[in-house]
Amino acid sequence: MSRPLILAATPVPAHLEEKLKQACEVIKVPRGTRPSDSVSAEQAGQVEGLLCNPAVPVDAALMDALPALKVISNFAVGYDNIDVTAAASRQIIVCNTPGVLDAAVADLTIGLLICLSRNLVHGDTYVRDGSWETRGAPPLTQDVRGKTIGLLGMGRIGREVARLAQAFDLTVLYHNRNRDPQADESGLAEYVDRDALFARSDFVSIHVPHTPETENSIGKREFDLMKPSAYVINTGRGAVINEPELIEALKTDQIAGAALDVMVQEPLPADHPLCKLPNVILQAHIGSATTETRLAMITLATENLLDVLAGRTPKAVVTPS
Ligand code: GLV
Repeated sequence: MSRPLILAATPVPAHLEEKLKQACEVIKVPRGTRPSDSVSAEQAGQVEGLLCNPAVPVDAALMDALPALKVISNFAVGYDNIDVTAAASRQIIVCNTPGVLDAAVADLTIGLLICLSRNLVHGDTYVRDGSWETRGAPPLTQDVRGKTIGLLGMGRIGREVARLAQAFDLTVLYHNRNRDPQADESGLAEYVDRDALFARSDFVSIHVPHTPETENSIGKREFDLMKPSAYVINTGRGAVINEPELIEALKTDQIAGAALDVMVQEPLPADHPLCKLPNVILQAHIGSATTETRLAMITLATENLLDVLAGRTPKAVVTPS
């Protein structure tokens, strides 16, 4: 029996590429190339698996160009790059990598919170540019302890942030579509309504997925609710925030600042208005970008793909749910 043909549209470490090659014919898709453009029409008709990442848009047209496709395995927990409805209607299984990145993303969230309150990015510049010598000690910053963090979204990552936040004596509020009885009962976090979350928090941290319902769901209305001393932290997806309205709120000091690991346009161009704002900390979508976490993610993504092609149940399935 011939081995299934798969397209690898994300880099795979050598030992996992070897594993893939034992079971499949593998064609690597160059970065930035639409997967269907990297094969002949004849090959396109035979592709059964696609390994991809959030930078690879997987729409209905791509699925139609790969009519034998059985599985799309995303090297990410988020899957807003994939038209999952189109996949479901074509009986294509979509997989992702939940769980293995929770700690890394939660660590980054708390790191950003500390950077914001202690002004660490400016502090570094202050030493390097000689201001410490010429101007003396930098301005005072703020305590982390005793503040309130509001988690918008209480999934795996939100819960991990809540757990870490307790070590800093932060009061933890959350808002989620469904209440989390365990979080309520264990005292991990207090459920509040959405408006109260924005109004009461010193740090609003976003942990909801990007969906048609959440797109642009945080904007002027929410910034109006926030205290002028409060910060927004986004380690989820950029499109959940209305970026022009965030920029306006930051420019006018309506809120104190923001830390963004994700933006609407990625990579963010260096001349983007966000890069000009002194009250924003920017990161290059690095929430899960540690050696250990990325290895765990690509291992899970590879296993998911191989499981589907071998007729086994994969560990992490988005659709069919
Ligand atoms: C990263 O952004 C992910 O969704 O895993």
